[in-house]
Amino acid sequence: KKVVLAYSGGLDTSIILKWLQTEYGCEVITFTADLGQGEELEPARKKAELLGIKPENIHIEDLREEFVRDFVFPMFRANAQYEGLYLLGTSIARPLISKRLVEIAAEHGADAVSHGATGKGNDQVRFELAAYALNPEIKVIAPWREWDLSSRTKLLDFAEQNQIPIAKDKRGEAPFSVDANLLHTSSEGKVLEDPAEDAPDYVYQRTVHPEDAPDTPEFIEIGFEKGDPVSINGVAMSPATILTELNEYGRKHGIGRLDLVEGRYVGMKSRGIYETPGGTILLDAHRGIESITMDRGAMHLKDELMPKYAELIYNGYWYSPEREMLQAAIDLSQEHVTGTVRMKLYKGLARVVGRWSDHSLYSEEHVTFEEDQGAYDQKDAAGFIQLNALRLKLIAMRNKRVGK
Ligand code: ARG
Ligand code: SIN
Repeated sequence: KKVVLAYSGGLDTSIILKWLQTEYGCEVITFTADLGQGEELEPARKKAELLGIKPENIHIEDLREEFVRDFVFPMFRANAQYEGLYLLGTSIARPLISKRLVEIAAEHGADAVSHGATGKGNDQVRFELAAYALNPEIKVIAPWREWDLSSRTKLLDFAEQNQIPIAKDKRGEAPFSVDANLLHTSSEGKVLEDPAEDAPDYVYQRTVHPEDAPDTPEFIEIGFEKGDPVSINGVAMSPATILTELNEYGRKHGIGRLDLVEGRYVGMKSRGIYETPGGTILLDAHRGIESITMDRGAMHLKDELMPKYAELIYNGYWYSPEREMLQAAIDLSQEHVTGTVRMKLYKGLARVVGRWSDHSLYSEEHVTFEEDQGAYDQKDAAGFIQLNALRLKLIAMRNKRVGK
């Protein structure tokens, strides 16, 4: 039996690796993806080798461009936010990891994949719905739902018995659980579990405190084509490069911090600290370019669909017909979302201060408070208002008649 494990090289997935070998008697193939989490990946190779994985069974891949181009940017076309605030940084990475797990399983003739998500969270659902959608025959092994290593002590004992190296600082309780990629860093659990308590400063890892950010604002220009960012200050860049650059601007100016209590798909609420520096700048900039290039009817319909679309991604339905339907509509809506936005970055905020486009629908001739040279006849508005008021008048008359 062969299984492909989503392997970070950390303690938990190393324990899972050993557990799959010893308890399941599986041949383990590891998959470690660079999604921009900012960690060296070669140590994961060393560690996998140390744990007895054959070199040809170790897969380490840089997926940053694919992640941003095919997952992050399509999602940002929708301005997706879960429960009004969460930019879905973890949710959007899971389908890509599953896709590669399933593909690597096929290459090796493995019939199972495995992940390190617990039985309490969203990630298990996302990994597995994606895997089954891409290969209905695949088997999934989720050790956290199966083993009896229910406490940290048991885990550490298991690690020690199996010669799994434990970093010194991991002997005590890790202070909280982190998931990071190019789009965001999330922190949950432990010191963060009481939502009444402010998060300690050390939880934040990739943004300066907004109060410590520079006292002078910085201005950048982001160029868009069909809804996707393509340049910063006139310099064309690849998707992952743009997001990396925006993250750097965001980090410096303390942009994109979020302290959120959210409803998990499995039913419970959880509290998380999120840092989405570049994504937060991008969301505001994208809305800025849409504001001049998108028709009102299309934009308002898209805004109504957005919470549904965000929920699908949060719940793990990236590979579903309903997500693809919405994506098709959203992508079509971006046909003319091309142009440039000027952003002001200052102490935790990214604000649009200018926008322009060859595809603009903005007509100064129509909107001007000055003489408009006949572009618009103000008299037309009288009939427009009268007809729109008709039903409101009839209601008011009825209410007067029945004494309400
Ligand atoms: N609550 C967030 C989400 O469901 C973040 C999950 C973080 N996952 C993790 N394995 N630490 O998208
Ligand atoms: C986990 O349970 O593995 C992390 C949290 C989540 O998936 O929501």
